[in-house]
Amino acid sequence: MKRGVLRGCHIARMLRRQKRHISFHTPGHKRAGADITELPYSDNLLSPTGVLAEAEADIARILGADASFLLTDGSTCGVFSMLYAVRCAGARAVAVPAYAHRSVFNACGVMGLEPVVMAQPVVRGIPVQPSAEETARALARADALLFTSPDYYGFLPELARAKALCAAAGKPLLLDGAHGSHLKGTPAYAGNFADLWVDGVHKSLPALTQGAVVSAKGAWAERLRDGVRVFRTSSPSYPVMASVEYAVRYPENVRLERAAREAKRAAGALGNDDWTKIVVPFGNRADEAEAYLTARGVYCEFNDGNYLMFYLSPATKLRELKKLTRLLARLPRGEVADEAPIAGMGGGETVLLPLERAVGRTCARDCGRFPPCMPLIRRGERVTAEKAENLRAAANTYGLTDGMIEVFSRE
Ligand SMILES: Cc1ncc(COP(=O)(O)O)c(C=O)c1O
Repeated sequence: MKRGVLRGCHIARMLRRQKRHISFHTPGHKRAGADITELPYSDNLLSPTGVLAEAEADIARILGADASFLLTDGSTCGVFSMLYAVRCAGARAVAVPAYAHRSVFNACGVMGLEPVVMAQPVVRGIPVQPSAEETARALARADALLFTSPDYYGFLPELARAKALCAAAGKPLLLDGAHGSHLKGTPAYAGNFADLWVDGVHKSLPALTQGAVVSAKGAWAERLRDGVRVFRTSSPSYPVMASVEYAVRYPENVRLERAAREAKRAAGALGNDDWTKIVVPFGNRADEAEAYLTARGVYCEFNDGNYLMFYLSPATKLRELKKLTRLLARLPRGEVADEAPIAGMGGGETVLLPLERAVGRTCARDCGRFPPCMPLIRRGERVTAEKAENLRAAANTYGLTDGMIEVFSRE
């Protein structure tokens, strides 16, 4: 950890100062350390007035928010809290990209918000951010606009245009920045545009898994506070919170950013908007490339069947990036398929279809064999002939209704 950064961290300083004490409190491991609970000196995230309040105030200042809230339940909790805030302000429908994260569709479902789905054409296997026309069309039917910024492939939506559109319509702009917290302090940062936004700090900055922040500006700050109260855990992890504060203060790594841009060029990666996401087209040789790399201890973020995505952060080591570049240079490339392997959401309306007639459609409810009760086809995934046959042949299933599968109507 960087000493200079640590010096400014309220939570880490508090944890390091604590004296040895005898634990008659949770957690059950009884080994105080940094994993403590609400104690007289450690503040209380449900109504912070001490060290956690100071950390949240500093985070809001760094991110340019009127209020920021520490989350130990991932960006998912932030997405739910934002949508709760707009629902409580009277929203009934939200314009969302077809390839939004499942937390967006789950939150809409739980809160009775209609997702007005914006189409995302798939180009060379990658869903493109919704067009200006599609966004305007959807926003006309909705009370708020939500974008993913940047998306998992490192592309940004048209943020300035979205902000202007929302301002003109008097509707809030929400940004799911699960993959964008490293953009803080740059012109592309979500907080420069959104009324409410999530930072998935654990994904692109050096924080522990599940560490995130949700922020808001103006009158949305108080509404968001209510949302966070509803959805976040009452047992937040102090190590996670300390790591989020540390990560938000983490400086940019200009040398690494330059090296990443160079590595992308050398690897023939996509020319995306985000230096932390190196997306390399392997087409039908993606599995082979992934196997070669994992055999050498190099793991990518995902293999979607067309592309391998390598996720960097300012904490990535330069020598490891160089090793990746060397290995990528040895690997042959195949044909990239045009179709995205995972389908986006086809829209709010659903229909039940016999399995054989659902092939090629988008599944609307997780379903699979029972046992083991793990999804064979997830909500949002395309129904393939093999999986449909697998379910048809199963003795017991879950997620089907009278042997029929629920799929989205609009495709
Ligand atoms: C775009 C997007 N939003 C939200 C989430 C949820 O984030 P978390 O896993 O931190 O809850 C993810 C997770 O991958 C994501 O990709």
